[in-house]
Amino acid sequence: MPTTQTTIQHVSFENCLMNAAGVYCYSKEELEQVINSSAGSFVTKTATLEARLGNPEPRYINTSLGSINSMGLPNLSLHYYLEYLIELQEIYKERTYFLSLTGLNQEDIHKSLKQVQESEFNGFVELNLSCPNVPGKPQIAYDFETTDNILKQVFSYYKKPLGIKLPPYFDIVHFDQAAEIFNRYPLAFVNCINSIGNGLIIEDESVVIKPKEGFGGLGGDYIKPTALANVHAFYKRLNKSIAIIGTGGVKTGRDVFEHILCGASMVQVGTALQKEGPEIFERLTRELKAIMEEKGYKTLEEFRGKLNYL
Ligand code: SIN
Repeated sequence: MPTTQTTIQHVSFENCLMNAAGVYCYSKEELEQVINSSAGSFVTKTATLEARLGNPEPRYINTSLGSINSMGLPNLSLHYYLEYLIELQEIYKERTYFLSLTGLNQEDIHKSLKQVQESEFNGFVELNLSCPNVPGKPQIAYDFETTDNILKQVFSYYKKPLGIKLPPYFDIVHFDQAAEIFNRYPLAFVNCINSIGNGLIIEDESVVIKPKEGFGGLGGDYIKPTALANVHAFYKRLNKSIAIIGTGGVKTGRDVFEHILCGASMVQVGTALQKEGPEIFERLTRELKAIMEEKGYKTLEEFRGKLNYL
């Protein structure tokens, strides 16, 4: 029987599937549903120092091809998620979870990470450098100089495993430039990709979400080719010590297979999880295993990153 076990920085996960930040991760109650599913881990909603209500509703809409959202980082505060994760460490000693966090300015990012450094939390931090939805705030990782400065400072004091959540890049030169910066730092992983920022979906003559005159991050089918391209571009360019988490357009076992073929060590599910609920992890695992069995693969390592070219 094939296994979907995977590893990031010597930490083993029984299953390579988990939620994407933003979906089934706002409260302990939602996170418990992911814990009790077939997922191999979870990531929290992106936390800020203070709790946030986020943008006005409607701010998340499903469409036949995916979703559009402009949530604006609603969350229950860094303190809330950090305390919960530390509690879970005592209960599930053999499991490892991810804490997503960001700041509305660089000072807040460092304040948050210093709190995590000083805490008993021993899991992974996913530093979100790519939220497209806070009015007036840019997607940090599109600014390479700022990203470099943040990472330089972070790794001067932060000594626990940390990765970054990236926006999609669309230019080969940008893949090269971004990878050159990331390779300077002891990152545990990069997560490709956050939503494709600032899309517009129209029904009849109107936008479908309220914030930012309808502009919002796209997820689902719209973004799978871009996600796969980013996963593979960074897989080819980054030091092998930096794992890739693949996120974007995953709704079948075949999609998971393709992310791994492009180089992903772990695969996150957003829009499809929101539509189907945490039972999706069992279906995706079953479908992935069926593909592996048909192709004669027993482990993910046998095909991870081994995309064929013409
Ligand atoms: C949001 O809360 O606006 C979504 C988070 C993100 O896209 O990073």
